[in-house]
Amino acid sequence: MRKAHLEYLRCPHCRGRLGIHQVDESVGDKIKEGTLLCTGCTEVYQIIRFIPRFVPINNYAASFGFEWNKHPRTLLDSYTGLKITEERFFNETKWERDLQNETILEIGSGAGRYTEIALQTGAFIVSIDYSNAVEANYAAHGDRENLLIVQGDIYKLPVRRDFFDKLLCIGVLQHTPDVRGAFLSLPPFLKPGGRLTIDVYCKFNKWYKDLLMTKYYIRPVTTRLSPEALYRLCEKYVNFLYPITGLFHKLTGISSRKLSLIFSMADYRGVYDLSEKVLKEWALLDTFDFLSAAYDNPLNIDEVRVLFKEAELEDVEINYGYNGIEGRGRRNAKQHSIA
Ligand SMILES: C[S@@+](CC[C@H](N)C(=O)[O-])C[C@H]1O[C@@H](n2cnc3c(N)ncnc32)[C@H](O)[C@@H]1O
Repeated sequence: MRKAHLEYLRCPHCRGRLGIHQVDESVGDKIKEGTLLCTGCTEVYQIIRFIPRFVPINNYAASFGFEWNKHPRTLLDSYTGLKITEERFFNETKWERDLQNETILEIGSGAGRYTEIALQTGAFIVSIDYSNAVEANYAAHGDRENLLIVQGDIYKLPVRRDFFDKLLCIGVLQHTPDVRGAFLSLPPFLKPGGRLTIDVYCKFNKWYKDLLMTKYYIRPVTTRLSPEALYRLCEKYVNFLYPITGLFHKLTGISSRKLSLIFSMADYRGVYDLSEKVLKEWALLDTFDFLSAAYDNPLNIDEVRVLFKEAELEDVEINYGYNGIEGRGRRNAKQHSIA
């Protein structure tokens, strides 16, 4: 991290300012190894491989760390050559494309699929993830001057309150143990009038639709396996099933995606115009993703509406979208928290 980026950080325990405590190794103006010290409660936090760390190394998001370091670029537009993530970012957030002089807080950044697009807006980005996926994001984007990557927890965010113009939390809330608590933790970090975009998996509440979500039958087993063992199984499974569902599609014209879903395999054939090789990579990555995540807590649309109301957000828009339910809102201009 760069020393100049200290201004964005706060102690997650007492909200005090942080200072540089020790520099063990630096490269140019970046601290590679060292420690930060809270000027309030004197808690010490490590900087490891350029990234400030505010969470225990072993935590419930380890499968995500494994996944994103195994597939650091698979979902990135710069890898696929398409604008899949760019289109989703702007359609889902409805933000302007030029956000020079603004600040964006990204929570649950994974390998940095959305970080890559957020950077294009010219805003200053603070990207936070609970897992060591931050390493994959750093490898892809760490050299950018307008980016600070942090390993931190949505429930105890180590950044300034009442500060950010925009907040993005895509693909994350359903993977937290308490979705309501995770969502309600976010608005205080926006400046009054700042805008937030989240999404969350959709719970259908229709027995015949929920019945087809077969991943929920096998997750009690798959989430108990080590990421390495589960990944090996997923590789074998996808290699076996992928050609079969492909053949079924050729013979019947019925979408391979529908059949794949019944057999708990992700499938983007017919959805995105990706090469065969990348389509299969996406299938493997996403199959592992939904079978490995420690938590998978979808909400229905009424539950999302209640959360936005509880957070007293304004200009609220909630709709079904790319990955379930999307929500946008603006922090009440009168709201202020104690920084
Ligand atoms: C499905 S991934 C989505 C990553 C990225 N937003 C994307 O769409 O490609 C969910 C991410 O949420 C992160 N996550 C889960 N619990 C978290 C928490 N308590 N605080 C911050 N991030 C969390 C995981 O580590 C993981 O990288």
